Amino acid sequence: SGIAILAIDGPSASGKGSVAQRVAEALGFAYLDSGALYRLTALAAQQTGVDWSDEDGVAKVALSLDVRFEKGLTFLAGQDVSTLIRSENIGVGASQVAAFADVRQALLARQRDFAVVPGLVADGRDMGSVVFPDAQLKIFLTATAEVRAERRFQQLIARGESADLAAITRDLQSRDERDAARKEAPLRQWGDALLLETSQLSLDQVVECVLSWWKTRT
Ligand code: C5P
Repeated sequence: SGIAILAIDGPSASGKGSVAQRVAEALGFAYLDSGALYRLTALAAQQTGVDWSDEDGVAKVALSLDVRFEKGLTFLAGQDVSTLIRSENIGVGASQVAAFADVRQALLARQRDFAVVPGLVADGRDMGSVVFPDAQLKIFLTATAEVRAERRFQQLIARGESADLAAITRDLQSRDERDAARKEAPLRQWGDALLLETSQLSLDQVVECVLSWWKTRT
């Protein structure tokens, strides 16, 4: 198709979002934050009174999402919800609605639309397995639960939000368990994905590693 795809999957707070954005910038590629679409779906459902347990209702919400990504900001029906969708509560909702096959199906075409010339860096849970199975490079990016909890904690503090490390650790753990145990597109390192364990690496080192792997594939 002439469109290069680099897929980065991994658990919550593994740093894949920061890495994917930096790599996309370096390569001059578009960037897809697929988790944001699940978060936006959860938020839009909440705002329109659709229960997160209502698969049909949430799938309809997902199909008709009015979203726009612009200059690093995220708009839902014209409203800047960039901060709102990052809350832990919406993260939990995203993980709940993401377990539904109809919701995942509803977001599939929208995700594939992000693939444009010359290329795309996509991050999520099933970028290399389901959404872009033909990606030139697939990476499973992870870090220990302790390191991920600490990274999320520092992120919240840096944003001036209050944060409780023990609560974050518990939330991450239950979200990872739900993402890994579900039937639809479970979180796991798929056969042809390269493992990148980042616990001991800085963001710069991870970005460098991904870029060097990409060079060997193109
Ligand atoms: O990556 P992020 O934490 O923003 O994703 C929020 C939730 O959305 C995840 O916990 C996961 O359940 C879901 N998700 C997914 N598939 C993706 C991206 C995110 O199921 N490709």
